[in-house]
Amino acid sequence: MRRVTLTQFLIEQQRAGRTSADLRLLIEVVARAVKAISVNVSKGALAGVLGEAGTDNVQGEAQKKLDVIANEILLQANEWGGHLAAMASEEVEEVHQIPFDYPKGGYLLLFDPLDGSSNIDVNISVGTIFSVLRNTAAGTEPDESAFLQPGTEQVAAGYALYGPSTMLVLTVGNGVHGFTLDREMGSFVYTNPFMTVPVDTSEYAINASNQRFWEAPVQRYVAELQQGEGGPRGRDFNTRWVASMVADVHRILTRGGIFMYPMDEKCRAKGGKLRLMYEANPMAMIIEQAGGAATTGHQRILDVVPQKLHQRVPVILGSLNEVERVAAYHREA
Ligand code: AHG
Ligand code: MN
Ligand code: MN
Repeated sequence: MRRVTLTQFLIEQQRAGRTSADLRLLIEVVARAVKAISVNVSKGALAGVLGEAGTDNVQGEAQKKLDVIANEILLQANEWGGHLAAMASEEVEEVHQIPFDYPKGGYLLLFDPLDGSSNIDVNISVGTIFSVLRNTAAGTEPDESAFLQPGTEQVAAGYALYGPSTMLVLTVGNGVHGFTLDREMGSFVYTNPFMTVPVDTSEYAINASNQRFWEAPVQRYVAELQQGEGGPRGRDFNTRWVASMVADVHRILTRGGIFMYPMDEKCRAKGGKLRLMYEANPMAMIIEQAGGAATTGHQRILDVVPQKLHQRVPVILGSLNEVERVAAYHREA
């Protein structure tokens, strides 16, 4: 069987006019950083990378050593290539400017360097999520406002999953494509062309410990699922919750499902739990490109106009018919 690598895939996308040379370089550089993060994640205790960093990030969350390492790897890898105007990261409060000694390009890169931090020390899958926007701002140092574009403006989005195998899942607006890291060869091999989310599912993902804080539409939806065969849905449903969004989304891309981190009383003041610009938006683009849907409950996630770089939103995404049902329950409430 002929093996297609990520490089070959990207060159073919470029020839077909779906990516620019700079976007291809950007994705290749992110993929290279992902390989370095994968090495660190998989060495675990052998490399002394587990445990707390002893610092807090912008959101007041305790950083793990691997949060800091993954962030450094991504920032450094992407500084010198000349493809970026600036970067933004979950782990960095302000916009990260490109150092003066390097040329600048036309894209903005946003990322969650290590998603699922609570799973690092227990050897459960974690990931990296990224989003690419065009820099529309004038001037040489794009500020926060340059980043505040709705998710519909993303030119590419993807994630890496550091699981039993390391995978890179990617969209440039032409379907969703999955690559598996061949560790011996050191290259990503094109293993999952045009990934799709089945429109129906019997699996749902939600952190049920927050149940008492949920709003009425989500209470109703989950209660109906839990009633199973004897309830209004007339069939049984199963729960899955990894607590790494990347892993939960990857399962949904593979066999369907619905993922919810909805609005609740506990996170209302913050606007939700998950971050819009480097968690919800890239995942929403991927899920929509794969035939699924993504909503806050009230609005398509990709249509949300951001007010702040580190803004949070409620997230409900996955199999089309289930997401539409939850959105309908919000409209009826
Ligand atoms: P991060 O590790 O980047 O802060 O993100 C963790 C997110 C997401 O990956 C996951 O779905 C969710 O937080 C888990 O939240 P709970 O611990 O509340 O279940
Ligand atoms: Mn995250
Ligand atoms: Mn993170």
